[in-house]
Amino acid sequence: MLVCTSLCLCVCNGFMQLVRLKANCFRNLAELDLEFSPHFNFIFGPNGSGKSSLLEAIYFLSLGRSFRSNLASRAIKYEAESFNLFSIILGQWSTTLGLEKIRQGKTKIKIGNNINSVSELAKLLPLQLINPNSYQLLSGGPKARRQFIDWGVFHVEPQFFQVWQRFQQALKQRNAALQQQIPTNQIKIWDLELVEAANVLTVMRDKYIQKLTPLINKLISKLLTLESLSIDFYQGWDKKLSLSSILTSSIVRDYKLAYTQFGPHRADLLIKLNGNPVHEVLSRGEQKLLTCALQLAQGILLKKITAKSCIYLFDDLFAELDSGKQNMLMHLLQSLEAQVFITAIDEILIKRLETRMLGKIFQVEQGKIMEKN
Ligand SMILES: Nc1ncnc2c1ncn2[C@@H]1O[C@H](COP(=O)(O)OP(=O)(O)OP(=O)(O)O)[C@@H](O)[C@H]1O
Ligand SMILES: [Mg+2]
Repeated sequence: MLVCTSLCLCVCNGFMQLVRLKANCFRNLAELDLEFSPHFNFIFGPNGSGKSSLLEAIYFLSLGRSFRSNLASRAIKYEAESFNLFSIILGQWSTTLGLEKIRQGKTKIKIGNNINSVSELAKLLPLQLINPNSYQLLSGGPKARRQFIDWGVFHVEPQFFQVWQRFQQALKQRNAALQQQIPTNQIKIWDLELVEAANVLTVMRDKYIQKLTPLINKLISKLLTLESLSIDFYQGWDKKLSLSSILTSSIVRDYKLAYTQFGPHRADLLIKLNGNPVHEVLSRGEQKLLTCALQLAQGILLKKITAKSCIYLFDDLFAELDSGKQNMLMHLLQSLEAQVFITAIDEILIKRLETRMLGKIFQVEQGKIMEKN
């Protein structure tokens, strides 16, 4: 086992950590009861052993859903009727957290002794997942980047979720009205609510990106040599014009499409290198490091604003990175003072790391997870 410091040191300063996890009938995992390090948790094992499943169980506890499937029931062990997760969380709000999914029923969430909703769950245990799908942040459509921005705003702006819901509701009504070809003067009445929520939402997003960008640039300068990288927030319409004037001028086409063309639902984060989309020019390893810089910056900003640290899950962190970059990334992770879970196929990759990282090593074999001494 690598060196592990006492838990209480980390609790006092808002350090969020998953101290213990019990899981039952989750994917291929055998019934488990694990105690984690507040710092690094290295998980290694062969293909199909259950490494990603362990990260998925932690992700479930943070967000009430899977990162692999929209159907929560897919994570129930074949032939079982339900899965259960139970955890102890220490931090600003130390509590127990339980989650149960029955095949035909809804996911039940219990924080302490109370039954809770998914949005409350997400506030409790902020988490960043970096896995092979994280490339979507650079190469996928704007939705992934909007979600990226909104993750941050959600955690730092207490009013965000309410405003976001108001906007979504107004947008849904407007689109339905367009579909039904309701006269323009009536649509304009609903536009008032949409524009009001859109403006508040956009100010929140813009403020967040302005704070985030310098942190991203700082991390990039440590991990990569990228000159002329630009990060620009597109709010979903031309910022020189008001949304209400845009809605008026685009109404004819909106009717044709039965869809609102402009607004915060079209926002994006434009990340370019010399004017080119990064995924078209950067190597795979560079894309991975850039993705890490983006997501780590979010965790750092969260801590700066709320004093809460987030948990990082890295699935197959070392793949596609040379040993120099692996070590650089590990040093950076160490400086974050956050709880980190890292999977790798081979233990050698972990043992080869330059620094003696604080933490525990877990070996996974056919769904069984054992802490290594
Ligand atoms: N609902 C389920 N019940 C039981 N087993 C499942 C279920 N869903 C997936 N599996 C199996 O669980 C095993 C573990 O999958 P997992 O993705 O966790 O492996 P892994 O260790 O991350 O592998 P890799 O190194 O290839 O990424 C796989 O063999 C998979 O087919
Ligand atoms: Mg995996």
